[in-house]
Amino acid sequence: MSYLQALVYRRSGIVLEDGKDYLVDSRLSPIARDEGVSSVDELVGKLRRGPGPELAQRVVEAMTTNETLFFRDAHPFEALKSHFVPEIMKARAAERSLRIWSAAASTGQEPYSIAITLLEAFPELSSWNVRILGTDLNEAVLERARLGRYRELEVNRGLPAQYLGKYFTRRSGDWELASSVRDMVTFRQLNLVEPWSELAACDIVFMRNVLIYFDSETKCTILRRLRSVLRPDGFLVLGGAETTTNLDDAYGSVRFGAGVYYRLKPPPADSTRGVTVPRVA
Ligand SMILES: C[S@@+](CC[C@H](N)C(=O)[O-])C[C@H]1O[C@@H](n2cnc3c(N)ncnc32)[C@H](O)[C@@H]1O
Repeated sequence: MSYLQALVYRRSGIVLEDGKDYLVDSRLSPIARDEGVSSVDELVGKLRRGPGPELAQRVVEAMTTNETLFFRDAHPFEALKSHFVPEIMKARAAERSLRIWSAAASTGQEPYSIAITLLEAFPELSSWNVRILGTDLNEAVLERARLGRYRELEVNRGLPAQYLGKYFTRRSGDWELASSVRDMVTFRQLNLVEPWSELAACDIVFMRNVLIYFDSETKCTILRRLRSVLRPDGFLVLGGAETTTNLDDAYGSVRFGAGVYYRLKPPPADSTRGVTVPRVA
């Protein structure tokens, strides 16, 4: 394994496959230029000499793929509206609190699509304590997410036209998201392969299109850790190419419409003593 592959794996869990030289070159050349070196090889040489964690972080961030869009795949947002939120609202009627985590939020389209879905379908949540948390490893994409400003091309991908008129304002050629939506989402940096500090229990977790970059061992570690963050009756939404199957059998799957979603299985009953014992994560 090359030095760069090892660095990216150690700091992000991302597996950089062999033969991706073109990708490495295109992503790292701008950093090489900024650092005043003439090639990506020289940049790697600089990293090897230990120039500090900032450059290493920049390099790792550059190797993340941040592709996202509003209402990506559509069906998770349908399921949010027709199943997840109604069920959680029933279960939390006394505490009136709803927590949703978008665990690889990129530039914010996913958590903002969640916020718009809640505003559109559940006006009664205005008297609830609703918290949507968007996290990502990459601080640069989070900065863009916090700004809530999107280019024409970005709002033309996935966002229904009526929401553009209702929740966005034209500003210097871009589209700015209304504060009523922005204020529902908090963004912070969180690396899924490092300890998840100060993370409250969540009712619904969107962890989409990020496990695909990891090897099985890392996926297992993350899913295991998620067990103690996802509330026992909560819902987990993965990307279309991701699953818990053969990785963590604490989760079972449920199908709503076109999508498959995941929930924690109930803890096994202790048949010898007739009491229910909590599962050890
Ligand atoms: C392809 S985007 C997915 C965005 C969104 N969830 C979606 O499905 O449209 C993957 C995101 O995962 C983030 N990511 C990669 N490795 C990560 C890690 N170890 N911890 C947290 N986020 C990570 C990347 O920075 C990137 O923004």
